[in-house]
Amino acid sequence: MTENSTSEAVFRDTASYRDRVRSHLPQDHPLQRSSADSGTAEAPLLARYRGVSTDAPPSVWFMRQAGRSLPEYRKLREGTTMLDSCLIPEMAAEITVQPVRRHRVDAGIFFSDIVVPMRLAGLEVEIKPGVGPVFARPVRTETDVDALPVLDDSFEEALEPIREAVRLTVAELGSTPLIGFAGAPFTVASYLVEGAPSRDHLAARALMRSKPQVWDRLAAWVAEASGRFLRAQVLAGASAVQQFDSWAGSLSEHTYRTGALPHSRALFDHVADLPVPRVHFGVGAAHLLAPMHEAGATVMGVDHRITLTEAATHLPPGTPLQGNIDPAVLFTSEQVRFAEADRVLADGAAAAGHVVNLGHGVPPETDPQVLTDLVAHLHEQPSVSASSPDGSSSSQGLSTAGAPAQSGSGGVEAPVTTGTAG
Ligand code: CP3
Repeated sequence: MTENSTSEAVFRDTASYRDRVRSHLPQDHPLQRSSADSGTAEAPLLARYRGVSTDAPPSVWFMRQAGRSLPEYRKLREGTTMLDSCLIPEMAAEITVQPVRRHRVDAGIFFSDIVVPMRLAGLEVEIKPGVGPVFARPVRTETDVDALPVLDDSFEEALEPIREAVRLTVAELGSTPLIGFAGAPFTVASYLVEGAPSRDHLAARALMRSKPQVWDRLAAWVAEASGRFLRAQVLAGASAVQQFDSWAGSLSEHTYRTGALPHSRALFDHVADLPVPRVHFGVGAAHLLAPMHEAGATVMGVDHRITLTEAATHLPPGTPLQGNIDPAVLFTSEQVRFAEADRVLADGAAAAGHVVNLGHGVPPETDPQVLTDLVAHLHEQPSVSASSPDGSSSSQGLSTAGAPAQSGSGGVEAPVTTGTAG
C-alpha cells in the first residue's frame, strides 16, 4: 500500500477520517452528508467496518441478497440476460434496492457481476443460467494475453453505465450505504483461463505454475480492469467495497502469496487512497486470512467453515470482521436459524467491529421471508459494543446513539416499480 492509503488507524480516528472524506471524495458523495440529509456519514454499519463503537442494533446484509430468491427480481429480469441487466442503469439500480426495501438490510450490494469489467473491456462473455460465467475464447497462452484489449480512455467511457447505476442507486438508498465490489484477480482470471466454471481450477493453477509470467500479466490486466471498475463505483457513491475471492480457497498459502496476493493488492490499491472500508472475502480460505488481510483489506469477510473467534486469532488485533451465518440454516426451523444468528452475534462481539452476513451467498432457492425475519430478529438484539484493539471497550468516534429506528431502512421509499415487496 502507498503512504497515501487509508489505513485502519485513519478509519478509527474520526477527525482524520472526516478530513479524508472531505478531501478525497466528490462533494455530492453520500459520505459527505449526515443521515438527516440522506447521507451515510453516521451509518452504524460503516462505523463497525471502521472498528468504531456504536450503540445501534447489529448491522446485517447478505451476499447475493439481490437475485433469484426475489420474485420482484425475476419479474424485472424477464427477457433480459444477466449481463445486459447489469448495464441498464435503471434496472441495476432497482435490483440493488429491492432486497433493502424488502428485508430492511443495512446495506445494498451493487447489482453487477465480477465479469462485468471484462465485458466492458470488450471480451465476449455470458452468464449461463445455472452454470456461471462462460468466455467465448479462453485466455491460456502468451499470444492470448497479448491480444487482451488495451485499457485506455475508451474503457473509462465504457464504465459510464456503472457510474450512472450507482448514482441512481444511492439516490434511492439515502442513508443506507451502498457497498461496491469487484472479483479478485485470481477468481476472475480462473474463469478466463478455464473459459467456464470449473471445480478445481486446474488449468488456472497449472498456468500459474508452468508460465508464471504469463499468469502474472493476465492477473495484472484483470486487477487493472477490476480496480478501475471498483474505483468508478466509489467515486459515484459507494461507501464501502468488497473484493470477492471465491476460489482462493483452492490455493496453498505459499501459492496464494506468490500468485494471487500481489494482484489482489493491486486491485485494492485502486481505492486505497479513498476513505471507504475495504472488505476481503474468500470461500474456504481460513488458512489465508492473514495474507488476504495483508493484501490491503481493512475488514475481513469470514465464511462459515471457521468461527469468528478463531478467525480473529489469525488477524491483527482490532480487525473488524464480517460473517458468517451458515447458509444451510436458511433451510431449517426458525429456532435453529435464530440460535445460529445469536451464536454468530456473540462470536463477533469480541471483534473491534462486526457486521453480520452469511458465510457465502444467498442460495437461489431461499424463501425470502426467511431472510426478512432473520434481519428483524437481528435488529431486535441489543447493540454489541465494539472493543478497541487492546481489547477494552471504546467509545471513540462517531456516536450513533438514536440510530436504531434508521437501521436498515434509512431513506428507502416504498416500492416504486413493483408491488411485491413485503
Ligand atoms: O446480491 C449480490 O450479491 C449482488 C450482486 C452480485 C452478483 N454476482 C449477481 C449475480 C455479486 C456480488 C456477484 C459476485 C459473483 N459473481 C461472484 C463472487 C461471489 C460468490 O458467489 O462467490 C462469482 C463467483 C460470480 C460469478 C457468477 N455470476 C456465478 C457463479 C453465477 C451463478 C450462475 C448460476 O446461474 O448459478 C453468476 C450469476 C449471478 N450473479 C446471478 C446474480 C444475481 C444469478 C443470475 C440470474 O439471476 O440469472
